[in-house]
Amino acid sequence: MDPRLNLDDWEHEALEALDPMVAGYYVGGSRDEETLRGNRRAWSRWWLRHRVLTDVSHTDPGLELLGTRLSSPILAAPTAFHGLAHPGAEAETARGIAAAGGAMCLSTLSNTAVEEVVAAAAPAPVLFQLYVYRDRGATEAIVARARAAGCRALVVTVDAAVLGTRERDVRSGFHLPPTLSLPNAAPGAGSVPAATGASGLAAYVSEQLDPTLSWDDLGWLLQLTDLPVYAKGVVRGDDAARAASLGVAGVVVSNHGGRQLDGSIPTAFALPEVVEATDGRCPVWVDGGIRRGTDVVKALALGAQAVLIGRPVLWGLSVAGAGGVQAICSSLTAELAEAMALCGAPALDRLTPDLVRLAEPGL
Ligand code: FNR
Ligand code: LAC
Repeated sequence: MDPRLNLDDWEHEALEALDPMVAGYYVGGSRDEETLRGNRRAWSRWWLRHRVLTDVSHTDPGLELLGTRLSSPILAAPTAFHGLAHPGAEAETARGIAAAGGAMCLSTLSNTAVEEVVAAAAPAPVLFQLYVYRDRGATEAIVARARAAGCRALVVTVDAAVLGTRERDVRSGFHLPPTLSLPNAAPGAGSVPAATGASGLAAYVSEQLDPTLSWDDLGWLLQLTDLPVYAKGVVRGDDAARAASLGVAGVVVSNHGGRQLDGSIPTAFALPEVVEATDGRCPVWVDGGIRRGTDVVKALALGAQAVLIGRPVLWGLSVAGAGGVQAICSSLTAELAEAMALCGAPALDRLTPDLVRLAEPGL
């Protein structure tokens, strides 16, 4: 029997093996980590009203997305610095995602060149997560490069114009070793050295990324590229509606995995408001604390088209490279298929709002 029955088993194994500075960076959230914990708890607050006596002999969690048939609606969220988890870094992750029939969102802050990641992922689609640098010319060049490399979409992160304080990283003096660079970043912004008495990442973000980021800039980005643009980090209906009006391809309900504003609403509670406000004008994706197939069922029943998982991919990568990434994706997809069958929903379009109900207070 594989001793790893679920994503938490992979997490425990990864945390035991990783260097403490890296483990703290991957696992942690900002300040008191209320939102980090809240994300997971909130999925548990939704209960399932399963249907019975439907034929579930064939259950298919697959879907068409980004012009490709994917094995499931579970995408790899953008996470920085895979070189801290495995020497093969993001190319290794990409091979694992491809083997699982998934799709990968690559962080601007990756340790592998985007061209190499797209090649390693083929034929799996790669989306490019964009951080907007103070240097707008450099940002334009990053967008052009991602498109030329064959990325299928841009995912612009809108909740990190300043970095939330991760106290674990301040205590550990988080930084990248000089052997790890950032080949997709703006020129002159390709390393994350130690900062005295602070997180090296916090220093990097405040020096390099543009804190003036605003709605006009989302408009600028949309006219800059013909790639579909998703806005990641939205938790309010009014913001989502505004993004939809500007013409985004989709919004990603996210609080950055509890790493930005501590106390930010758990995504399982923000999702219904965003779905209602966008009203079918663009797809809605969601991430944060999704660790079980039933969490995915709940997200889709609440109106999400797809979900993203962040940390679990890093646990798979740390423990077993591409094979570990493939294993965590396949295991969550298998859980999803089982949950769909038990819900009487053999295809994703049968995951409808009547399947979920919010717990009464106290339950
Ligand atoms: C992230 N996340 C993130 N988001 C982003 O837009 N760009 C990035 O570079 C990163 N980097 C990053 C590093 C690490 C170590 C983590 C854990 C997260 C946020 C990520 O895309 C996603 O929103 C959350 O990870 C989702 O929550 P879960 O699945 O980790 O609970
Ligand atoms: C993080 C940044 C890089 O969450 O997005 O660490």
